[in-house]
Amino acid sequence: MSALLEQLREALGADAVLTEDWALQSYGVDRTRVWSPAPLAVLRPDSIEAVQACVRLARQHGHALVPSGGRTGLSGGAVATQGELVLSLDRMNKLLDFNPVDQCVTLQAGVITAQLQAFAREQGLCYPVDFASAGSSQMGGNIATNAGGIKVIRYGMTRDWVRGLKVVTGRGELLDLNQGLIKNNTGLDFRHLMIGSEGTLAVICEATMALAAAPADPLLLLLGVPRFSALMPLLGAFKSALQLNAFECFSDAGLQKVLAAQSRQAPLSQPAPFYALIELDDDPSVLEKAMAIFEEGLDQQWITDGVVSQSLSQAKELWLLRESLSDTLAAWTPYKNDISVRVSRLPAFVDEVEQLVCARYQGFEVVWYGHIGDGNLHLNILKPEHCDQEAFLQRCATVTEDISALVQAHGGSISAEHGLGLLKRDYLHYTRSAQDIALMQQVKQVFDPDGILNPGKMLARPA
Ligand code: MLT
Ligand code: ZN
Repeated sequence: MSALLEQLREALGADAVLTEDWALQSYGVDRTRVWSPAPLAVLRPDSIEAVQACVRLARQHGHALVPSGGRTGLSGGAVATQGELVLSLDRMNKLLDFNPVDQCVTLQAGVITAQLQAFAREQGLCYPVDFASAGSSQMGGNIATNAGGIKVIRYGMTRDWVRGLKVVTGRGELLDLNQGLIKNNTGLDFRHLMIGSEGTLAVICEATMALAAAPADPLLLLLGVPRFSALMPLLGAFKSALQLNAFECFSDAGLQKVLAAQSRQAPLSQPAPFYALIELDDDPSVLEKAMAIFEEGLDQQWITDGVVSQSLSQAKELWLLRESLSDTLAAWTPYKNDISVRVSRLPAFVDEVEQLVCARYQGFEVVWYGHIGDGNLHLNILKPEHCDQEAFLQRCATVTEDISALVQAHGGSISAEHGLGLLKRDYLHYTRSAQDIALMQQVKQVFDPDGILNPGKMLARPA
């Protein structure tokens, strides 16, 4: 071990190899808080050549590397629990190039999402993939997990904005993929293999990201919904009349926890079992159509009450209710299920999950929220106060088996946007066929023949 660390210090510089306990503890985890961090060291290369040196030495010594971004993941994709080397991209945090004609930014993988969003705004443009952790998530990690977020219904996922990538594979080769082109029909597009590969094929070092036109100011509606199934006609009515920027939902159980944590007043005069949070472009004709749907919603009993933002700051306050859910619930160390089915199947699916949880897992409090417009729900099972963490996780593993079987029966996905990591790896067969999984193993072998990149994440280690 000491020879490996010595060679790494020589290649990267002594201050780029951290072995202090604080560094191992903080770089060895993501937001799952399920596994205890135990990396050997943290590597902080500052160039592509330095990343290649890390991969070369890890290969020589047969030592595992865990590529690491902002560590905001929720599936254990970036945890290091078995003496691995964490390869942090956080020193590679520069915006390298911007071209207003191409409307593209080339950046290093450690650029924070909010840094790219702010830069885009300064150019009169926008980077539209957005989520609550934009202030600390890094672009390399977003690409490695194909991060989604709150505006997918309008703008798609991270994948849709990646024009080019520079990656270092598990063989140590540098691949320059797609060079920022819009059109490039020259065979297999490896860029798309890298996106969502969770650091198992290559280390993402640089990316060229497309930007969108600056959005209009947002108009927010928060509507009280009396039953989950009423969200469907409501979504249908909005979709057929207006361009939606977001169509999110959360249950009252979640809202109450956020209000209590922030000592805030309820946003509506009467509580409802569910809420829809809808973002539209702020424009008089949009407001008129939205108000017509609001009236129809009341008449049809799809909604019971609602509020429409009157200013930018009120719009932000309403978003805060939704965006605070994840952090607020962290106090209950929730067990997360990030699932999707076709939007139209959501009511039947949610009904069956609720029946299952009620019948078989009494005593577990469940909080639903998510990106209803994308068919993506986050089912958070809260740890009862007096339950031991180990026993809770064991119980949740069986809940996940049962829920995954329901997801499969509804033709859905066991991980809509959080990735598989360690948390959902063993449930992959509920969404992907045995042939798919075998092909993924073979692809891994091509790019990372020695299995040094994030072993055991996303896919089980070969027997
Ligand atoms: C969200 O939608 O808030 C994020 O995916 C985070 C989470 O699910 O907790
Ligand atoms: Zn989400």
